[in-house]
Amino acid sequence: MSIAVVILAAGKGTRMQSDLPKVLHEIASAPMLVHAMRSAAYLNPDHVIVVAGHGAEQVERAAKDYDPDVKVVLQTEQLGTGHAVAQAKSALDGFQGDVVVLYGDTPFIGEDTLLRMKEERAKSDLVILGFDAKDPGRYGRLVTSGDALEKIVEFKDASPEERAITLCNSGVMAAAAPNLFRWIESIENKNASEEYYLTDCVEIARNEGKSASVVRCDEEETLGVNSRVQLSEAEYYFQTKARTELMETGVTLHAPETVVLAFDTIIGRDVVIEPNVVFGPDVTVETGARLRAFSHLEGCHVSRGSVVGPYARLRPGAELAENTRVGNFVEIKNAQIGEGSKINHLSYIGDAEIGKASNIGAGTITCNYDGVFKHKTRIGDDVFVGSNTMLVAPVALGDRAMTGSGSVITEDVPTGDLALGRSKQVNKKGLGAKLMDLLRAKKAKQSK
Ligand code: UD1
Ligand code: CA
Repeated sequence: MSIAVVILAAGKGTRMQSDLPKVLHEIASAPMLVHAMRSAAYLNPDHVIVVAGHGAEQVERAAKDYDPDVKVVLQTEQLGTGHAVAQAKSALDGFQGDVVVLYGDTPFIGEDTLLRMKEERAKSDLVILGFDAKDPGRYGRLVTSGDALEKIVEFKDASPEERAITLCNSGVMAAAAPNLFRWIESIENKNASEEYYLTDCVEIARNEGKSASVVRCDEEETLGVNSRVQLSEAEYYFQTKARTELMETGVTLHAPETVVLAFDTIIGRDVVIEPNVVFGPDVTVETGARLRAFSHLEGCHVSRGSVVGPYARLRPGAELAENTRVGNFVEIKNAQIGEGSKINHLSYIGDAEIGKASNIGAGTITCNYDGVFKHKTRIGDDVFVGSNTMLVAPVALGDRAMTGSGSVITEDVPTGDLALGRSKQVNKKGLGAKLMDLLRAKKAKQSK
């Protein structure tokens, strides 16, 4: 059975108090919408359609950034969830498979849950994902009789008896496309909100003699974000789950609650992560590496056996080969560091290539930016860069080359050469002590 997923993301999200469309607020370094798109991907769908409205251009950009194949349709006026799904109809013209509706602000619907819904669809024309709410609040209530779902009542329209029901609507639903779009045509907006409720499909389907049923999941999975407080709760939920999953797959976290992961962080077995390590998007860390405390990583790759930090920063394009060392207060951006090379203290390495077993002395900086253009630094194998060397790019150091401490290197250094790019030292006989005596005498005179 082919599947189309429709993700509703047109709402304004007034309670976020934000200029950014709600679904673009981030959880674990990815917009909420991307999390919903990842859930959609569990179903291996033939079509993914995002219904955008508020901030549609921004929403479209974010959606296509993540998946260029996604279709974005516009809902110019937000007349309700039923009206929103109707906007996807022409994009799915002639599609005979199943439609699964997800919400852009409900980011954690899991694979197992979606697969259970798919299974249930074989038995039932309309499947709703429900959950038992600890505090049912303003959720739509699922009115059931036995296993069958009779209708969904929105909180605003519910009687006191219906409000007492704790089985609630998550918003996720599945039905055959021709059925769903036919039902949607009969939805009216005669309700407390004067909106076209998608949830009315249940009664409409039942009146046609079709079957409707409920699949249940944990409340946390259906966690919806309507405010900044809920956004922080969603972040907390994601982080807790992701850290646990890492530990279960063989990663050591010394203080899990202090480690911040991204939605796509990949960490190999037997990696040790010390406290307060922060991951931005797109980080891969291989088996047996160690990430020491207070390091910040994004867009980078750390190979087997490497040690990063404490207090290191790996920025996009940092590629560390096996057994490298990147120590405290070192920043690396867009640079390949060869096997066994060491950059242990206080350095900036940007737009560079470093070979194997080279040692970059403390305080070394690749001067990669001239104010307009970026330039490359190339360092060979077994190179020894003296402390506090300024490598003014474009510049290259051959294999086994050396630079003297404090050098400003503006020209290439051939293989095996020593480059001294600093002025020659002169010693003035006795002048140090003499100068100090003079200064002390001056101070004594002033304080009289
Ligand atoms: C909806 C459900 C409710 C359920 C709850 C779960 C309806 C009528 N009610 O209520 O039963 O318990 O979700 O969170 O469906 N959207 C659009 N266009 C619109 C309206 C909404 O794209 O015209 C999008 C929103 O951006 C959001 C989602 O649909 O992502 C849900 O809309 P929202 O207004 O938050 O629905 P609720 O009132 O929470
Ligand atoms: Ca909502």
